[in-house]
Amino acid sequence: AQIVQAEFIKSSVRTEDCPSDGLPEFALVGRSNVGKSSLLNSIVRRKKLALTSKKPGKTQCINHFKVNDSWYLVDLPGYGYASAPQELRTDWNKFTKDYFLNRSTLVSVFLLIDASIPAKKIDLEYASWLGQNQVPMTLIFTKCDKRKKKKNGGKRPEENVNEFQELIRDFFETAPPWIMTSGVTNQGRDEMLLHMAQLRNY
Ligand code: GTP
Ligand code: MG
Repeated sequence: AQIVQAEFIKSSVRTEDCPSDGLPEFALVGRSNVGKSSLLNSIVRRKKLALTSKKPGKTQCINHFKVNDSWYLVDLPGYGYASAPQELRTDWNKFTKDYFLNRSTLVSVFLLIDASIPAKKIDLEYASWLGQNQVPMTLIFTKCDKRKKKKNGGKRPEENVNEFQELIRDFFETAPPWIMTSGVTNQGRDEMLLHMAQLRNY
């Protein structure tokens, strides 16, 4: 599966304002700084299509990117950005949760989890919420290129990935599909493209 073309379409803050052409879409969600925008750029092989930043909180809206004129990748704001004003955080919860529950063209939520650190409570909470609400989802582990570091718990990405899956097992009737990725080495890119093609053709 070769991506030939990708373009930014629009930013929305309400589900009603999202594109209405009925094309299938996949939404990238995860903690601030987990690498959502970087992964999107890696998938479409465009370094700066989605803006990235070392500072958390770069992405603030529901951003639709159209791929090959036939489906969307959606970049969402990160959660768990502690220094955002309380007001903004509440908004995030309202508009993204509404989007997950009511966006009929949403094929799967891609929950991004940083594989270079141990499981975070907030990630487990979001996985649990998605599971309870039966939102179709795929686990995307990011930053799999990073080597283990003492200050990050001293475990390899593979070990963190296994532990995370163990911790969320009870939230799902069937374990969600999962893919290991890196926006730096492009690991997992082909697997993600194949996965999305399979889901679109259901
Ligand atoms: P928000 O929009 O703030 O929610 O962040 P985001 O999830 O879109 O993260 P973004 O893609 O902006 O990346 C955050 C930081 O992590 C940047 O400094 C990236 O260079 C870095 N990063 C992202 N993906 C990877 C990866 O796969 N490997 C490594 N080593 N670093 C990464
Ligand atoms: Mg971003």
